Amino acid sequence: MKILLVGASGTLGSAVAQALDARGHELVTVGRGSGDVRLDVSDPQAVGRLYERVTGLDAVAVAGGEAVFKPLDALSGDDFTATLRTKALSQIELVRQGARHLAPNGSFTLVTGILSEEPVAGGAAASAANGAVEAFVRAAAIELAPRRVNAVSPTLLTESVEAYGDIFAGYEPVPAASAAAAYVRSVEGRHTGRVYRVGF
Ligand SMILES: NC(=O)c1ccc[n+]([C@@H]2O[C@H](COP(=O)([O-])OP(=O)(O)OC[C@H]3O[C@@H](n4cnc5c(N)ncnc54)[C@H](OP(=O)(O)O)[C@@H]3O)[C@@H](O)[C@H]2O)c1
Repeated sequence: MKILLVGASGTLGSAVAQALDARGHELVTVGRGSGDVRLDVSDPQAVGRLYERVTGLDAVAVAGGEAVFKPLDALSGDDFTATLRTKALSQIELVRQGARHLAPNGSFTLVTGILSEEPVAGGAAASAANGAVEAFVRAAAIELAPRRVNAVSPTLLTESVEAYGDIFAGYEPVPAASAAAAYVRSVEGRHTGRVYRVGF
């Protein structure tokens, strides 16, 4: 399959790229400063340009997104707006604009994370964004058929323990390869409207 992978250079994305590549798929990678196509998917016009430029897609997979972590009383409205834009609206826009460009049996695989269900202090913006994406996946699946949409929700990745381990004290990490397997399940399987929890 020809698969657009957003965030292929990242901690999660590089494992997803490896897993999809090992399955023999053709990848077109996207990042702001990395990948085959370089643009910011939080800009809806850039998403439009992306789909004009990359055609014949069977699947779109997202392994990127950023969230602002701060105590709730320090999170500003702008922090929430930025997190919802870069983590939630960017993914919704990739599906909304991508639906008409994707093969009829194509699929979208989005990324959320454990914080939609198991919050940590400082993670309210990330939790809100993850929850928005998961609700969107369940709703969009009804209308996208025969195209499919799922989300992968990993716990803390082993490769990120050094960076985020203190925020996620007591959360058992999983290797990024385990989350990558859920992307393969979403892309090659028949499920839709699912949120694949990985490691919790
Ligand atoms: N790491 C974890 O433990 C973990 C656990 C659960 C969920 N997650 C979720 O998984 C996702 C990826 O996390 P990560 O730790 O792998 O992040 P990361 O290492 O920072 O990688 C992010 C990737 O996405 C790309 N990217 C980011 N913003 C983009 C944008 N606006 N437009 C285009 N590309 C963009 C980056 O490339 P450029 O820099 O070139 O743009 C990079 O390839 C996030 O949504 C995160 O919340 C991560």
